[in-house]
Amino acid sequence: MSQPISLRILEAARQARTRAVAPFSNFQVGAAVQTESGEIFSGCNIENASYGLTLCAERVAIFKAVSEGERQFSAIAIVVDTDDLTPPCGACRQIIWEFCGDIPVTMANLAGRSETMQMRDLLPKAFDSGNLK
Ligand code: THU
Repeated sequence: MSQPISLRILEAARQARTRAVAPFSNFQVGAAVQTESGEIFSGCNIENASYGLTLCAERVAIFKAVSEGERQFSAIAIVVDTDDLTPPCGACRQIIWEFCGDIPVTMANLAGRSETMQMRDLLPKAFDSGNLK
């Protein structure tokens, strides 16, 4: 029997975290997005000596999926090894909102703690293409 999607996506994010390239912050992040068709795309943070070029795990996961033709998403998970669960940064909230809309965002740690919030609560009064009309 296949695992429930929430466990698959958490496991994918946890695995992706092990591939983080974070020699400057030493803060490894893994993320995974699930498409409406049930596929999962994962990503890790990738840092650069020119710090501003760093890519967050969430954006790597979403851009991987989008570049493979995926445009419909149903959930995202973020895994970090911290006691306090780590929410997506402001830039990632904007990208999640624009590409995934009001999806559930699950924040988890390696100890098995997790919390899920809706994107509309993480990014209230969001700016998006609707504002450009
Ligand atoms: N980071 C993420 O990957 N996702 C977030 O939402 C927060 C921050 C990464 C970027 C950087 O490599 C490290 O965590 C410390 O900021």
